[in-house]
Amino acid sequence: MMRSLILACLAVTASAAAHAQKARYIFYFDQYHTTILPNKTVTAGITHVITAFANSSLFTTDPVGEYVPFMDLALVRALFDPGTKVCMAIGGWGDTAGFSVGAANDTSRKLFAKNVATTVKKLGYDCVDVDWEYPGGNGNDYKQTPNSGKVFEIQTYPLLLAEIKKAIKCHSHELSIAVPGREADFIAYTAEQVPKIDKIVDFVNVMSYDLMNRRDNKTTHHTSLKGSLAAIEKYIELGFTPSKLNLGFAMYAKWFTTVPGQNCTEPIGCPTVALENPDGTDPGKSGALTLEAGNIAPAPPPATLKGTTDGTCGYGTGLRCLATDCCSQYGHCGNGNDYCGATCQPGYGRCDGFTVKGSFSKALANSQYDSDNGGQWYWDSDGIFWTWDTPEIIAKKFDEIVKPKELGGVFAWSLGEDSYDWSNFLALQAGVKRL
Ligand SMILES: *[C@@H]1O[C@H](CO)[C@@H](O)[C@H](O)[C@H]1NC(C)=O
Ligand SMILES: *[C@@H]1O[C@H](CO)[C@@H](O)[C@H](O)[C@H]1NC(C)=O
Ligand SMILES: *[C@@H]1O[C@H](CO)[C@@H](O)[C@H](O)[C@H]1NC(C)=O
Ligand SMILES: *[C@@H]1O[C@H](CO)[C@@H](O)[C@H](O)[C@H]1NC(C)=O
Ligand SMILES: *[C@@H]1O[C@H](CO)[C@@H](O)[C@H](O)[C@H]1NC(C)=O
Repeated sequence: MMRSLILACLAVTASAAAHAQKARYIFYFDQYHTTILPNKTVTAGITHVITAFANSSLFTTDPVGEYVPFMDLALVRALFDPGTKVCMAIGGWGDTAGFSVGAANDTSRKLFAKNVATTVKKLGYDCVDVDWEYPGGNGNDYKQTPNSGKVFEIQTYPLLLAEIKKAIKCHSHELSIAVPGREADFIAYTAEQVPKIDKIVDFVNVMSYDLMNRRDNKTTHHTSLKGSLAAIEKYIELGFTPSKLNLGFAMYAKWFTTVPGQNCTEPIGCPTVALENPDGTDPGKSGALTLEAGNIAPAPPPATLKGTTDGTCGYGTGLRCLATDCCSQYGHCGNGNDYCGATCQPGYGRCDGFTVKGSFSKALANSQYDSDNGGQWYWDSDGIFWTWDTPEIIAKKFDEIVKPKELGGVFAWSLGEDSYDWSNFLALQAGVKRL
């Protein structure tokens, strides 16, 4: 019995190694972007799709909590080439609690790992992706639980990964991790720890985007060529094997509010307003817009809008707000900044001043390429800085990062976010083909 189990594991390892040369081409698939999905010509060549997210706390209990994927996995598989691996992502931004509990000690780590293995086996996943953002701190709760309260995670993180890998590897399941792109967030990725992590995981998704976030106070590109390269070089220096690293791409633009009265003539270094509240929450002065049709070329509101009777409004409802109410981005009528401010839906009620979508239209029409840094940007004189990626920059990232650094592949967030014309998506597909 023992002997045949060991042999089965060896066979699996050998066949996995035989395919190690093919470049990885990975998409995350999140539950919020499922209405317009790419067809199979667009998804051709994808090697792994990672569904996001299973809550980390599900795996800390005995018996294990139940994870219900947002889409039946047979339907997920039908969107891709036969043989595409479907991985279960655990965690995601804001979900660190289950990891902290699970990593704590040998008993909790074994339980967590066993629960992960049981879940992927039961649901029929092929692989596991750990998205702990981030071990050691700087997560969404960094003001509530300071990083000093999470120092132990720097040591326990590789131990948890090792247990998970041990529990899933006899099923030939790969283990991957998503790691931050901003160096300030590399807390658990030290020169001492990275070589340990590198030995355990099969691949590493480097989130070489969101390189500017709401904790910054000056503008910079969020996913420039230069910034992405710097993140990759730093991780290689810390000890990751280049062929385990995948370069990350974002199918969305980011915007940030700059200080009134500033004339931001350069993409780097223009001062922003406070983008985060003192308690770490979001004051709505920055955000992301996906490259979906509704953002790139929003249809004007239909001429036949009716006044709302239940307080809902906006895109897709055919309803507008009454009197002086504003329609929020979430489709509710009301007043105040959340309704009437930057994310207000014009045409479905009142909006105060500029709107983010209106500003994005200006950005798309008037943007500039910063050739020093390899980033697309626009500064709207209403005080909004925009930063995003184009098919041209994506192609350059293959030539100037993926190839010369001999990376193992690429990945992107996320599957349904480029639905306007799939042009960034197809640039990735073309880049992978050239590898
Ligand atoms: C798939 O989508 C692409 C991009 O929108 C389009 O050009 C192509 O015609 C579609 N193919 C099929 C078979 O529908
Ligand atoms: C994950 O589950 C925990 C425990 O049930 C819950 O408190 C938390 O809100 C959940 N997180 C998310 C992102 O749903
Ligand atoms: C292990 O960690 C868990 C979760 O934090 C805790 O409940 C448990 O008491 C710990 N066990 C030992 C033996 O320290
Ligand atoms: C801006 O951010 C830097 C780096 O986090 C920090 O050192 C500096 O104090 C901040 N400046 C302001 C005005 O908040
Ligand atoms: C901002 O700077 C640009 C370039 O130097 C200049 O053309 C423009 O007039 C300036 N705008 C303002 C409002 O000062």
